[in-house]
Amino acid sequence: MALKSYIMYTLLTFSLSFFQTSVSVNYVVTNLADNTPGGIRFTNEIGIPYTKQIMGTINDYIWSTVFQQNTPSDRNPVDIVNVYIVEFDGAEAIEWGGNNINVSSIYLNGYEGDLKWQFTSLFYHEMTHVFQWDGEGHAPLMLVEGIADYTKLKANYAQKGFAKPGEGDRWDQGYDFTARFLEYCDGIDSGFVAKLNKKMRYNFDVKYFEELMGKPVDQLWIEYKAKYGQ
Ligand SMILES: *[C@@H]1O[C@H](CO)[C@@H](O)[C@H](O)[C@H]1NC(C)=O
Ligand SMILES: [Zn+2]
Repeated sequence: MALKSYIMYTLLTFSLSFFQTSVSVNYVVTNLADNTPGGIRFTNEIGIPYTKQIMGTINDYIWSTVFQQNTPSDRNPVDIVNVYIVEFDGAEAIEWGGNNINVSSIYLNGYEGDLKWQFTSLFYHEMTHVFQWDGEGHAPLMLVEGIADYTKLKANYAQKGFAKPGEGDRWDQGYDFTARFLEYCDGIDSGFVAKLNKKMRYNFDVKYFEELMGKPVDQLWIEYKAKYGQ
């Protein structure tokens, strides 16, 4: 290849790969536990490059598929997401301050199975927290958690033991139970979760379900349970 076309080729492939991922968001990953067993396991089985790569993939997936936010003005304006691998107990990971994710090195060390897959699943959930709307704090926490679990369900990253369709006692039970209910609503009204998230930008009202689905949420829950014979 002549030098000039080589340079053009390099520029072209560079800009293509650059624009495939989320142009405006930076991902910064810091292993603050790199001398602990979990931090070493992170380095050996997951690593910082892989973490940054899946953050881009998941970010795009959330915008394009889950929330269907095709213009920047629709999106939660985040320009950097920080990840810390830290030694703490009591949770797998926690999203805090709007754009930070702490992952427990103790959890990573104790996990039995394909750690890289599980870490990816966890990131579908935590990254959703970074980009979702929560009605400026007015949305029920368990709905917020349900939407985060809905992302991993939709992306085929629901872990072993994730609720089956029809399981659960209440629509706002949270996590995988609420995720399955949202999946049901999305099956009736395609894009439901994206529309619900959009409504949740500045406030929350349980009537949003009725506005989108034509029935109160309690009625939807009864019909959901009936569909699965429960
Ligand atoms: C997450 O880890 C960072 C770095 O150690 C720490 O400063 C921050 O307080 C932690 N956040 C939470 C919510 O634990
Ligand atoms: Zn969560």
